[in-house]
Amino acid sequence: MKIEDPLDFFEDDMSFWTKLAEHAREQKEMQRMVLSSVGTEGKPQLRTMILRSLKPREKTLFFYTDSRSDKVEQWQKKPFCEALAYSHSNLMQLRLSGNIKILEQGDLFDQAKDGLVPHQHKDYNSKLAPGSIYDSSQAGLSETLNFALVQLQVEHLEILVLQPKGSEHFRWSYQYDKEGHLLKSTRLVP
Ligand SMILES: Cc1cc2nc3c(=O)[nH]c(=O)nc-3n(C[C@H](O)[C@H](O)[C@H](O)COP(=O)(O)O)c2cc1C
Repeated sequence: MKIEDPLDFFEDDMSFWTKLAEHAREQKEMQRMVLSSVGTEGKPQLRTMILRSLKPREKTLFFYTDSRSDKVEQWQKKPFCEALAYSHSNLMQLRLSGNIKILEQGDLFDQAKDGLVPHQHKDYNSKLAPGSIYDSSQAGLSETLNFALVQLQVEHLEILVLQPKGSEHFRWSYQYDKEGHLLKSTRLVP
């Protein structure tokens, strides 16, 4: 990616949110993000999750999960999350951080749950909980859908773009309030 005018490119943070939304919608590379939680003894835990949708204006990201998975309990105890999206084709890294809400009822939850296609149900209705020891006598699917919607309210975004062939690299930081309004944008040394 060749950046001709960095001020033009980075001062409008909305272009990054639009790009991330496009990757989610069109199943491009940044759709597969890495999200953190804090596990026992304060140790960080990371996992890949699919970005299902995004509200660019509100800076809200949505992911799906099994409500019995370890990360759900970890986020319920400590809702802070660092998330990473990386585009290999653009040599671009997005580091996002903010607070997680686990939604298991309400309009947003119903909409997401109703939008699941039948083959997606098997991601949320295994008899054994995710992470438990496999036991072939108990494996299989149940009638219960343990679906949860994970909402990340982003309060900080940091973009790093590496340019090939010795060209300048760029690092910018964006701070948001709890409604997703931009409070401050800052250019940083890469
Ligand atoms: C390509 C890929 C996409 C994944 N997408 C999701 C996802 O959208 N939601 C999810 O809960 N787990 C997803 N997983 C599985 C998680 O990375 C993780 O292994 C699982 O959720 C258990 O995490 P936990 O034990 O930290 O709760 C994905 C894994 C891969 C490799």
